[in-house]
Amino acid sequence: MKILLLGSGGREHALAWKIAQSKKVEKLFIAPGNAGTALVGENVNIKADEFEALKNFCVDNGVNMVVVGPEDPLVKGIYDDFKNDKRTKDIPVIGPSKNGAVLEGSKDFAKGFMERHGIPTAKYRTFDGTSLEEGLKFLETLKAPYVLKADGLCAGKGVLILPTLDEAKKELREMLGGMFGNASAQVVIEEFLSGIECSVFVLTDGKDYKILPEAKDYKRIGEHDTGLNTGGMGSVTPVPFATEEWMKKVEDRIIRPTVEGLAEENIDYKGFIFFGLINVEGNPMVIEYNCRMGDPETESVML
Ligand code: AMP
Ligand code: GLY
Repeated sequence: MKILLLGSGGREHALAWKIAQSKKVEKLFIAPGNAGTALVGENVNIKADEFEALKNFCVDNGVNMVVVGPEDPLVKGIYDDFKNDKRTKDIPVIGPSKNGAVLEGSKDFAKGFMERHGIPTAKYRTFDGTSLEEGLKFLETLKAPYVLKADGLCAGKGVLILPTLDEAKKELREMLGGMFGNASAQVVIEEFLSGIECSVFVLTDGKDYKILPEAKDYKRIGEHDTGLNTGGMGSVTPVPFATEEWMKKVEDRIIRPTVEGLAEENIDYKGFIFFGLINVEGNPMVIEYNCRMGDPETESVML
């Protein structure tokens, strides 16, 4: 097969490295790629969200499958764009449809989805500019620390955890006032969960799924887990507390209900699901969904 992988991070270097090992692969292209991906395939100078140029490239070069690394092209609807073009409709795109990518693209949608399918997650409510006063009152009913999340994509920066009620109220006003532009036009306020986090990945065709090795990333910038969060700078797998018993809870309470929920809601989803989990007294709960693999987690998972 000829495969086109989209993206330019460490995640894509790891995916390219793994894909290139398959005997079924005749040629691997990466758009736009990076210095690492150039070691295992051929970089193509097209950005991951330039759909027209990507489709033309696939047609001209006989590409048989597209693997999408980052969330941005998925949230913008690359799956649907390929499907709706008669030249590319038969080229499988590994990644969800636009409707499926909303699991990552809207925190409010993700929370509603979990509620509809009985998937364990923190209690929450969503507010917008017209319900600021209710949001402020809702904060008063919660205990510190306070978790505020911009509804839309913010490159990992849209979550604030505030130690005091005053700070939480101030930030809620600012977020709804446009702190993250349109992404914070709606804000999810949720209960704070205390525990250790773990990333679990599946690859699904919308009916069945394959669970990949779980991983843990390390986010805080300073030595000894101090300082601001980054998107993650290193990762390990396996995760010591992800025992067989714990992973069974994850599969029964979270993975299966999610895949079945997508099917029930007629959401076309053939790709990776990244479950951002937290272990609360032995019970896994969902912090977030992503519609792609994690970075840096992929670097350890692909090994
Ligand atoms: P998210 O973008 O939803 O993954 O949130 C970013 C980070 O904020 C997570 O990796 C957690 O460390 C933290 N976080 C998010 N939601 C909660 C919560 N309800 N309780 C505690 N920590 C949270
Ligand atoms: N490492 C977290 C993420 O990829 O979102």
